[in-house]
Amino acid sequence: MTVLEAADGYDTSDAIISRIVAFIFFCSGCFALPATIIIFWLTLRHKQIRNKPINWSIFNFALVDLVFGVSAAMQSASFSGMVDSLTPLQLVTAVIFEHLFTLQAQKRIDCNVAVVTQLIKKHPNEMAGGNNLWYIPQLIVETTVEVVRGFVIVFVYTLIGAVKALLPCGWLPRKSVAGDIVLITGAGSGLGRLLAQRFAALGSRLILWDINEQGNEETAELVKKLGADVHTYTVDLSSRVDIQLAAERVKKEIGDVDILINNAGVVTGKQFLECPDYLMEKTLEVNTGALFWTVKSFLGKMMEKNHGHVVTIASAAGLFGTNGLADYCASKFAAVGFSESLALEIKAARASDVHISVVCPYFINTGMFEGVSTLWPNLIPILEPEYVVDRTMETILTNNPVLVMPRFVYFVYFAKGFLPIKAQLFLGDFFGVTKSMAFFKGRASSSA
Ligand SMILES: NC(=O)c1ccc[n+]([C@@H]2O[C@H](COP(=O)([O-])OP(=O)(O)OC[C@H]3O[C@@H](n4cnc5c(N)ncnc54)[C@H](O)[C@@H]3O)[C@@H](O)[C@H]2O)c1
Repeated sequence: MTVLEAADGYDTSDAIISRIVAFIFFCSGCFALPATIIIFWLTLRHKQIRNKPINWSIFNFALVDLVFGVSAAMQSASFSGMVDSLTPLQLVTAVIFEHLFTLQAQKRIDCNVAVVTQLIKKHPNEMAGGNNLWYIPQLIVETTVEVVRGFVIVFVYTLIGAVKALLPCGWLPRKSVAGDIVLITGAGSGLGRLLAQRFAALGSRLILWDINEQGNEETAELVKKLGADVHTYTVDLSSRVDIQLAAERVKKEIGDVDILINNAGVVTGKQFLECPDYLMEKTLEVNTGALFWTVKSFLGKMMEKNHGHVVTIASAAGLFGTNGLADYCASKFAAVGFSESLALEIKAARASDVHISVVCPYFINTGMFEGVSTLWPNLIPILEPEYVVDRTMETILTNNPVLVMPRFVYFVYFAKGFLPIKAQLFLGDFFGVTKSMAFFKGRASSSA
């Protein structure tokens, strides 16, 4: 008796529920059919592409799957004939046990589809010509080993990453940057100035770019006192042409840049609809566009020499949307995406000694975000510039690809991956992040 036949003539709701359960199992058991078709299709396609004889053993597998899967499904369905003699609970239990066969069959089918696909990819010649059934178990073992290996690698990297992120500064071995040519954009104040001083103390040669000539010269004076060789350029980083001209001059006058630190940034800090168009454009040009043109100017030589480092000072606003920072967040999300993609490109090019780092700090007490507030200063403090520079130097000198500050933000970023939006909004309010820009004043010149 089929499920549908069994359904006729019974009208108690218990029996109907029981039959529905059996019917659902029946349908899922029939999964065997499309899976079998996929296996046939893969095999035929393989013949089409390779124009070689088909390995008929694959068909044997497919047929076994089909018979096993469908017969188990039919058995599940046949339970529906007993609905009048069993309570719904007994019936559901019986069907579930019976259906375990079907599920096993389905697992086998899933596995075989994967196996055949892999088989064709990895052993095209053997699969086309031979009839060697040992490839199937061999491949199952290979796949299992690969999956287990993958899990172990992810676990070990996660452990190392977590330990590195939590270690205090100065514990990890650092590379030498003595004699390296370091170009810092936005060196006329804030983080840029402090970074210049740190590199000067380590014996690097410095190239300082800023639109603010006076600030840039002041930084140069400070680093000269530390004995550094320093060169200043007045560059408008919102202009591609300006960047390219300055880059040519640097290459001619000083040489190839070893470490490029894209630090210059601007913020408007206004609600989106109140934000003048030209300021939004400037935000994108300085915070994102400048990354393209500087990197394009200097990365080539780094790749050629297999020596170099590109550092992007992005922001935690490049990881989370923030009320009152729509254009800034857009530009910093882009900066993070750019940096991540660049790192992948360089890895693919096997330039093992060219490094990419992106730095994502929360608000810093440099004046750029003057007036912003935090509700939980112990957990998410407004950061001190010295601390940010300590950790940024650690990141650069240890070739760390990503730095997020303060450390608590790592957990928030992790949670963002799986928390529903409403929960995220609640937490945003709870931690005061959604209102952090309410009293923003900023630095007038930075948005000019
Ligand atoms: N201050 C923060 O709260 C904070 C938080 C996260 C990330 N950041 C990022 O850190 C970086 C440094 O910020 P800061 O706090 O030192 O700010 P800052 O204002 O002190 O420094 C920015 C520098 O960029 C320069 N600059 C601006 N527009 C320019 C242009 N068109 N051409 C050339 N130079 C230009 C400015 O003259 C200034 O010297 C920025 O990219 C910023 O977005 C800052």
